[in-house]
Amino acid sequence: MISAGIVTVSYIAATILFILALGGLSNQETARRGNWYGISGMTLALLATVFGVVTNNYVELMAALVVGGSIGLLLAKRVQMTEMPELVAILHSLVGLAAVMVGYANFMDASVHFTGVDLTIHDIETYLGILIGAVTFSGSVIAFGKLSGRIGGKPLTLPGRHLFNLGLLIAAIWFGREFVIQSAAGGGLTPLMIMTGIALIFGIHMVMAIGGADMPVVISMLNSYSGWAASATGFMLNNDLLIVTGALVGSSGAILSYIMCRAMNRKFLSVIAGGFGTAGGTTVSSESGEEQGEVVAIGADETAELLLNAKEVMIIPGYGMAVAQAQHIVFEITSSLRAKGVNVRFGIHPVAGRMPGHMNVLLAEAKVPYDIVYEMDEINEDFPDVDVSVVIGANDIVNPSALDEPNSPIAGMPVLECWKGRTSIVLKRSMATGYAGVQNPLFFKENTRMLFGDAKETLEAVYKAL
Ligand code: TAP
Repeated sequence: MISAGIVTVSYIAATILFILALGGLSNQETARRGNWYGISGMTLALLATVFGVVTNNYVELMAALVVGGSIGLLLAKRVQMTEMPELVAILHSLVGLAAVMVGYANFMDASVHFTGVDLTIHDIETYLGILIGAVTFSGSVIAFGKLSGRIGGKPLTLPGRHLFNLGLLIAAIWFGREFVIQSAAGGGLTPLMIMTGIALIFGIHMVMAIGGADMPVVISMLNSYSGWAASATGFMLNNDLLIVTGALVGSSGAILSYIMCRAMNRKFLSVIAGGFGTAGGTTVSSESGEEQGEVVAIGADETAELLLNAKEVMIIPGYGMAVAQAQHIVFEITSSLRAKGVNVRFGIHPVAGRMPGHMNVLLAEAKVPYDIVYEMDEINEDFPDVDVSVVIGANDIVNPSALDEPNSPIAGMPVLECWKGRTSIVLKRSMATGYAGVQNPLFFKENTRMLFGDAKETLEAVYKAL
């Protein structure tokens, strides 16, 4: 058992490390260092808590740490890069579940005594912790289902869904009042359990109502909720580190949600209220691929020739590059073209792939230099000067219908306007639609060429031809 003073100092040091971690993660060059700050902060926090705060039940605690740690390690080692968002979603659900369980355990703990105003404040903290935790838990489980394809991406639109949500909110507030009143008289379990049920239903409904195309916002929003749940639990347990860490996760998740909304030109409240992506209009199933004209196919040799004759090449990676694990061969091609004097740049859409920064991580892994990787806003105006755009396993993020089809589920989302360049070469395996399930008129444009096949295999053939 270490002294309370050392625990406080360790908690302050861990807090500083977490802030440095977030600072580091905001930039590609410093992201690796940021990760190490985070790992060090969490190790310090765990050690200080285990040896300074916990007073008994060490055997059970260690057993839980070993079991939980091993499962986490195994999952993280096994997970494919493309499954990362699902892993993140399921981990968020565990944060929510932990907040619910700790809330109940604390409420039922006979050794926790409060009276008067202190009791009311403590009850509100408990209630909020469980409420946010339960919403995060059920919402994240549904998000996991949607991301892994176990649940369809189509938004569920119940008649009067906004009224339904409002009803749930009013009920949760009313049962909160009941809980505080009954808790003062030594009870309160029933309203607490009813509220937990309401919160679970709200979480399920909230995420079920969101269309596939808006999932990025949901993921970052659930990330934020998991932080606030932890923070409320921190207040309940009187644990400063949990309060601060929860607030850091909560606020950074909220900022990320805002960035995602801006990237997709969505209003945060409209996404949360659900029903986006329901307009139907141009939605087609991935198999049907409604014909919009002729597509022109191209081979690897011809692609290599176009690239060699180009001065300006823009590479647009998407989810398919992650599926094919084509980032390494993309790097080889980039190096080869640059050595021949071609100016190669990368255009990254904020929601390319399946998680924030997905493409940046893959390109960094393949050692593509950071200074040729550009955000969409930085390069979208340069397309008229681009000779060849190579769209690698991307679909929704280069879909012109987002700009000129008001009924499209992705209407209003800014996209990389590669069709304004001289030629676009699109690498994909078929005419299937992307994540949002909408057909892409880019494929049928006069200056577009389709290079069909697995992105890694076709790029290897292109590299050989180069
Ligand atoms: P998508 O629109 O999903 O398109 C990916 C394309 O890659 C598909 O059309 C697929 O066509 C192709 N593909 C798959 N495997 C391939 C392979 N092995 N080789 C070659 N091509 C392959 O991806 P995107 O353009 O990156 O857009 C991202 C979408 O995901 C957006 O709708 C976004 O809202 C959503 N989303 C993003 C996030 C975040 S935070 N980034 C989170 C959740 C959802 P084929 O099947 O014909 O090959």
